[in-house]
Amino acid sequence: MTPPSGDAGSSNTLDNLLTESRTFPPSAEFAAEANAKPALYEQAAADREAFWAEQAEQLHWHTPFTKVLDWTDAPFAKWFLGGRINVAYNCVDRHVASGHGEQVAIHWEGEPGDTRTITYANLKDEVSKAANALASLGLVAGDRVAIYMPMVPEAIFAMLACARLGLPHSVVFAGFSAEALRSRIEDASARLVITTDGQYRRGKPAALKPAVDEAVASNPSVEHVLVVRRTESEVDWTDGRDLWWHDLVEAQSTEHTAEAFDAEHPLYILYTSGTTGKPKGILHTSGGYLTQAAYTHRNVFDLKPETDVYWCTADIGWVTGHSYIVYGPLANRATQVVYEGTPNTPHEGRHWEIVQKYGVSIYYTAPTLIRTFMKWGADIPAKYDLSSLRVLGSVGEPINPEAWMWYREHVGANRTPIVDTWWQTETGAIMISPLPGVTSTKPGSAMGPLPGIGAKVVDEAGNEVGKGGGGYLVLDQPWPSMLRGIWGDEARFRETYWSRFESQGFYFAGDGAKYDTDGAIWLLGRVDDVMNVSGHRISTTEVESALVSHPTVAEAAVVGAADPTTGQGIVAFVILRGDAVDGGDAAVQALRNHVAKEIGPIAKPRQIMVVPELPKTRSGKIMRRLLRDVAENRQVGDVTTLADSTVMNLISAGLQKGS
Ligand code: WT7
Repeated sequence: MTPPSGDAGSSNTLDNLLTESRTFPPSAEFAAEANAKPALYEQAAADREAFWAEQAEQLHWHTPFTKVLDWTDAPFAKWFLGGRINVAYNCVDRHVASGHGEQVAIHWEGEPGDTRTITYANLKDEVSKAANALASLGLVAGDRVAIYMPMVPEAIFAMLACARLGLPHSVVFAGFSAEALRSRIEDASARLVITTDGQYRRGKPAALKPAVDEAVASNPSVEHVLVVRRTESEVDWTDGRDLWWHDLVEAQSTEHTAEAFDAEHPLYILYTSGTTGKPKGILHTSGGYLTQAAYTHRNVFDLKPETDVYWCTADIGWVTGHSYIVYGPLANRATQVVYEGTPNTPHEGRHWEIVQKYGVSIYYTAPTLIRTFMKWGADIPAKYDLSSLRVLGSVGEPINPEAWMWYREHVGANRTPIVDTWWQTETGAIMISPLPGVTSTKPGSAMGPLPGIGAKVVDEAGNEVGKGGGGYLVLDQPWPSMLRGIWGDEARFRETYWSRFESQGFYFAGDGAKYDTDGAIWLLGRVDDVMNVSGHRISTTEVESALVSHPTVAEAAVVGAADPTTGQGIVAFVILRGDAVDGGDAAVQALRNHVAKEIGPIAKPRQIMVVPELPKTRSGKIMRRLLRDVAENRQVGDVTTLADSTVMNLISAGLQKGS
């Protein structure tokens, strides 16, 4: 593990953080109307458990909980003991019961321009039908369901139907490969896979079901594949196994009674990359997860269900889509936009056109997209009426101050608060963020832990560093939406998150961070071998394994190199086999495509360099630091711990020759 260096891909270097002195206090008008008040911090500090109990009580409990937290079996937390709850009831039925059935839940915008308007009453019907359909297949609480779908409304219906029946879902991003889907289905022994025939991507339909057919072929646990028709693409069909959504679901009754489950009943598994090749199945449960997803969504985005139109641009394949498209917003009775497609289809103003069309007031996106908008030019958002916007959010990686300022000026008209929200798949919900109307923000800083959350920056020994000091980010208190483990791998759960600061009992997040002289937190990027490409977590080992699985590759080393748009870009160094083809363009292209096929297009290396050797220590560990120097065109650092100190000369000489 390398200590935090501050070169986390964006320009959040220690130097420019130390000179960042701009602050933006909330306006008096915003503060007067804000959901969050400064007193939240005091209230949570005075009695954390009472604070969380109060947040949980905003949900509907079929049976009230009797105890807030049991941490005696740490690191396995239990929250809201004795409580029984149905997550889908809270996200859907409850709003119809309170007289808001006619309120729009989802303004859905398809990539080709088709639209659907779904009220809470419609949502209740759709989710009930889907739940009846899943029950008719014999699925019972506890069974796992894999969901491999683009951003169509049925994906949300499917997730909620699973939640309603207590079937933990495992959503797999539809951009992942058949192999990635296969291994996730296998790890969770899913009984059902829900998918679509195809998906629209950049104006064209692309097939999706063939990947499911491939993934399911070797997975005996899967009994059925339920297919939503989206692109009318031709599909292969396995009778008895494959079912059309429009046949099975549409025929069902819209009546379905939601049954309550224990607060700790598993809600979902979501896979994320770790430092080894095998993705981790992060497990989330019901009561605590929904409590924190709803609480953070209400306060961090200042959601007013009567008037706001909220839009989170993430995909349901990532945790942001789970917590801030599905569970948090729907629990809070938000009216939201869900968009199927890419931001430049059919033109680079698509997002702003959508903001204008629906009067979006809260917009939540990722720094990589903000930097892409910057590249496309400020004249594009300037063509649209963005005056409805009142809160802007950012998530996924450190946001560099330049992008933050651009976002504020060209999207937020120098008026809207920006919330930079730090969290992870594992944390389930936002942990560190300003509160709009309360916190004075600084461009590039996530500021501080939310009320009820404990986060600190500590040194190697676990001691909190002082103001101006840097180190590791830890979470020192259990929180309601924390992961309840890694599916099927307790040892890895303990090792990955809890062993680094075992004596202190801290959760180790894997991020470097620092305090500025005012005590605000600045995130500096991962300190492990995990890359952050466009806000997506990809492990270096995962890409290395994909590369060496190609017959021409003898050895591979992968690093994340700073990239002006994607935060980090994947740069691979490969040694080809003796008898393999030359390292020409065609060979490199073939390798890039091979990685895309093995993992998914998001893991395609930006650059592959064919080299004669890799720099290794005497114990055989690849020195990625030196390769990162090469990838970022820097003077190569200290080589004295290399087994063969001439290797770096060989690499540099070879690359110059090749270029
Ligand atoms: C990692 C978690 C949380 C949803 C999206 C990513 C990085 C996330 C921020 C932020 C700096 C951030 C961290 C974290 N990260 N948000 N606001 N500032 N870094 O979820 O795939 O689980 O990745 O993303 O490195 O550990 P994820």
